Amino acid sequence: MIHSGSEADLIFLSHILRSGGLVAVPTETVYGLAAHALDASACEAIFRAKGRPTHDPLIVHVADIAGATALAHLNEVALRLAHRFWPGPLTFILPKKPIVPSIVTSGRDTVAIRVPAHPLLRALLARCKLPLAAPSANPFGYISPTTAAHVQANLGERIAHILDGGPCAIGLESTIVDVRDPKDAVILRPGGIPQADLAAALGRPVRIHQRMATPSPAEPKGELAPGMLDRHYSPRTPLVLRERAFSLEELLTPSPKVARVCFSQPPPGAAADVLHLTSEGSTEEAARRLFALLRWLDGGAFARIEMEPAPPTGLGPAINDRLRRAACQSQQMPRPTPG
Ligand code: TXA
Ligand code: MG
Repeated sequence: MIHSGSEADLIFLSHILRSGGLVAVPTETVYGLAAHALDASACEAIFRAKGRPTHDPLIVHVADIAGATALAHLNEVALRLAHRFWPGPLTFILPKKPIVPSIVTSGRDTVAIRVPAHPLLRALLARCKLPLAAPSANPFGYISPTTAAHVQANLGERIAHILDGGPCAIGLESTIVDVRDPKDAVILRPGGIPQADLAAALGRPVRIHQRMATPSPAEPKGELAPGMLDRHYSPRTPLVLRERAFSLEELLTPSPKVARVCFSQPPPGAAADVLHLTSEGSTEEAARRLFALLRWLDGGAFARIEMEPAPPTGLGPAINDRLRRAACQSQQMPRPTPG
């Protein structure tokens, strides 16, 4: 059932969460599938509903820095970034306190924590007074949901409650940063907070984990790598991430059954079927539209999706990261082209 977020809804959904149930919740990044983070069996139900392997740990959502401090040790770098970016799309990997059940962290001694900005989720956190473990509310490996309807379409038969907070303002997941070494903050997943903004806040460069910068399917998964699965965010339709923009010549020729997606508006004269991610030419708008567009393109009308890369500024690296992983799935598991 989809709940609109009235006061009565929030009271009801708090009760569901307190008694170990699951609720899909809006965040500013993507919709999450939430459960009481300190209730191990409630968290197990998240893994079951998503079909997610239990070695892939969950992010815990809390109301504020005090909520984070109850679960983990925040050093001075974490606190500096938290004051600057929370509430917002930034997740820290932190040494966990014993109170966090091992199912949440897949047995690790670290926990991923963030303070979300969506007003409806913040109202629910204030009402239920619980830390909420919530991965993205999609079946494992599929495209993340950015509307309540996306959650309903994929998980509607497995979960009873969806809180509808409208379309997500950012549209792709939080940036995950490992801040355990105060001298060396490392981005494990590019996301809603650009690398340059983190570097500016700290007054020094922040590096992207080597595994992220040069992903190679052959490389064994290291200890730090759970958020770096190659295959992810994948439509069923094969997707190709191009190395460069389409040439005008390519765009002049119609190509039936192949969805071609430019980053910004195609030049005049381009074939009528050419799509684009952003009319404004902004990486923010492109991020906001990305997952809904991929879902639409995956509706069965196309045999292949070809996407231009986003520019390397703003949210561009996060967009390209998601597209690279979406393409990885298609390349590793080719499917017969629908007729
Ligand atoms: O924006 C977001 O982060 C969304 C919304 C719902 O908050 N959540 C989200 O969760 O993207 P999920 O589960 O789809 O992705 C979380 C990633 C996973 O890839 C997981 O492997 C990684 O975070 N992760 C969680 N705990 C970790 C830990 N202790 N160490 C390293 N990676 C961790
Ligand atoms: Mg996810």
